[in-house]
Amino acid sequence: MAGGELIAEAVAALLRGKPDALLGVATGSTPLPVYQALAAQVRAGSVDASRARICQLDEYVGLPAGHPESYRSVVLREVVEPLGLGADSFMGPDGTAEDVPAACAAYDSALREAGGVDLQLLGIGTDGHIGFNEPCSSLASRTRIKTLTRQTREDNARFFERPEEVPHHVITQGIGTILEARHLVLLATGAGKADAVARAVEGPLTALVPASALQLHPHATVVVDEAAAAQLALADYFRATYAAKPHWQGL
Ligand code: GLP
Repeated sequence: MAGGELIAEAVAALLRGKPDALLGVATGSTPLPVYQALAAQVRAGSVDASRARICQLDEYVGLPAGHPESYRSVVLREVVEPLGLGADSFMGPDGTAEDVPAACAAYDSALREAGGVDLQLLGIGTDGHIGFNEPCSSLASRTRIKTLTRQTREDNARFFERPEEVPHHVITQGIGTILEARHLVLLATGAGKADAVARAVEGPLTALVPASALQLHPHATVVVDEAAAAQLALADYFRATYAAKPHWQGL
């Protein structure tokens, strides 16, 4: 089964047991197959997502409200609308706020008041970032403003008409915030992610590779295709583990 479908099935299983689950979603190209597969399940009637709640992982600072590449717009377009949900099912940090630290604190509080994230879907940056926690982010960090690396701005330039339009600043759930989600699911595909995946999964645990913080989480799942798995020293062991995984365990 392809990674997108595998994760969509795990989300569907979660929603069958907890119809109002809070799903943390990531942007970027990688998770799109998850959202498409989940929307297909909803259309086919194999899962009811009508009470699901969706929350955002990160956001650009300073893009005008309604900008098509603000992560709020992307999540509404790619996740909320295809699932047949309304904007009232959705929460995210305010990237247009005058008082950015207050907006960050408000988002952390809102997540807590919503009961915490049940399943947080993550991608990974080529530099090992999760959300927009760039290398050397504190492993205990809360939602806050970050400055993007040149690499990340270049990686994300494809979404904008001109590279200089990519904002320098972002709001991201902190690594400490992300680690509070009950289940973390990181999806990585393609050879461009192989180095970051190997460093995240096989360590060492280091702020230099923010995704290595998943090693601290009691329930973290990393889903990769063969290309993204290419640099894993323990790939054979991981394959055997997955093949022998008890069915009751889920993802
Ligand atoms: C951005 C997002 C991340 C995402 C990363 C990788 O930086 N803030 O959440 O994981 O891009 O994106 P892609 O999946 O397109 O490679």
